[in-house]
Amino acid sequence: MPSILLSRARDYETEHLSDVPPAHLPRFHVTGGVGWINDPNGFSMYRDEYHLFFQYNPYDVYWDNMHWGHVKTRDFIRWERLPCALAPDKSYDEFGCFSGSAVELRDGRHLLMYTGVAKADDGEDRQTQCIAFGDGINYEKYEANPVITADLLPPDGSPVHFRDPKIQKVGDKFSAVVGNLTSDGSGAVLLFESDDALHWRFANKVAASENRIGRMWECPDLFRLDGKDVLIVSPQEVRSSNLEFIEGNTTLCLIGELDENSRLIRQTEQTIDYGLDFYAPQTVLTKDGRRVMIAWMQYWNSVEVRPIKELPFFGQMTLPRELTVRDGRLIQNPVRELLNYRGNKILYKNISVSEKITLPCVKGRSVDLTVKIKPDKSDSFKSVTVNVAEGKDHSVAVCYCPAAGTVLVDRSRGGWPEGVLNKREFAVRDRAGEITLRFILDRYSMELFVNGGEEAASFAIFSPKEADGISFEAEGKAIADIELYTLDI
Ligand code: FRU
Repeated sequence: MPSILLSRARDYETEHLSDVPPAHLPRFHVTGGVGWINDPNGFSMYRDEYHLFFQYNPYDVYWDNMHWGHVKTRDFIRWERLPCALAPDKSYDEFGCFSGSAVELRDGRHLLMYTGVAKADDGEDRQTQCIAFGDGINYEKYEANPVITADLLPPDGSPVHFRDPKIQKVGDKFSAVVGNLTSDGSGAVLLFESDDALHWRFANKVAASENRIGRMWECPDLFRLDGKDVLIVSPQEVRSSNLEFIEGNTTLCLIGELDENSRLIRQTEQTIDYGLDFYAPQTVLTKDGRRVMIAWMQYWNSVEVRPIKELPFFGQMTLPRELTVRDGRLIQNPVRELLNYRGNKILYKNISVSEKITLPCVKGRSVDLTVKIKPDKSDSFKSVTVNVAEGKDHSVAVCYCPAAGTVLVDRSRGGWPEGVLNKREFAVRDRAGEITLRFILDRYSMELFVNGGEEAASFAIFSPKEADGISFEAEGKAIADIELYTLDI
């Protein structure tokens, strides 16, 4: 039986979701439809479909009383909305059902593992790990929750910042990585193990910030990919002085090998996404063995701003991405299922770019656009810029500068107000002045994949949808091949 709080959320959805004009929503990116969403949760395969839950406040476009919203898909592009899955209706989670994950059990049940937040007598949060069992629609919280409590923490672990379990099956058993704040004031990822998913023991600290990259480490995920162990986390309060990490909440990927005690011997570290809106990524292993990642396409530092007041939702997910590891780096590309939705194709080859140009039929706010740029033989270029989401007063400019080896994205005219961080520059690998930029636009976002996914950069944009122009310009002379597909999903 759903609790009063869960029934209330589900009734609210039934009443309000049908009022939302589809034209107000992205075509193929997940939102709450109504209300606020943040982190993806419980990204998992269950009965041959992919389920995605998310941090969710159905009632308002601001963060508050965290529920778990729920959608599912067969192909990561078309999503079906399901009723709200969890409400903060127990004493151990009355201040929120925070982020977590899910696995399918051998007995056919779907297990959700999440952080329950309660207030202790000292007024501070107490975060514990809890579970719920369900059938893909209805979930029952376990009567002996919480299953991981502060007494299992190592001596330097904080019971206040102890959250976001990512569970996985290891043969017949289970393991979970959980984010934690340690007594040195910075983050760590703790590994717990269990034979039955009900009784847990602390195994080891997989990795720690040691005050190098941010403080609390949120939303860990640990997986094996292409012969390496990969740990992704979302550090808070990062201070950054280079192009690699953004200030505030950022994302971090550590690649290396786990030793025999499950400690990560790191070989490389990098940011995951070089855009302004990307946080709390989580992955799933697909039926055909791909590691697919999704993230919240929003920056915590700009969540107070509502660029378009009429939008019934706040917060959207990225397009799911296929991951690989190459030469110690994480490579990301849009899920291949997107190719099935490509509509009209427009192709231009060897276009000479210097003064600003537009091309017939090259436009749109729901498109898959690839631009291959190389220097003209007779003349090299200082910079080349692709403007998307362009209108009279709007545009998002993506500028490649080969001498600096950087891409600068400027969305100052992308619908966000002044005062919000609107520019980000990042380094790209040198390819003798050549670069391939793939843009996925979907009404309120632009995701950029550079040189076959060596860098990815995600941006929420809030200019009017009518600002759908695309143009090209260069300082000097560049040659461009342009391939555009409409995405009429
Ligand atoms: C990350 C996060 C998580 C937490 C959730 C609460 O964005 O802070 O650590 O579980 O959001 O909504």
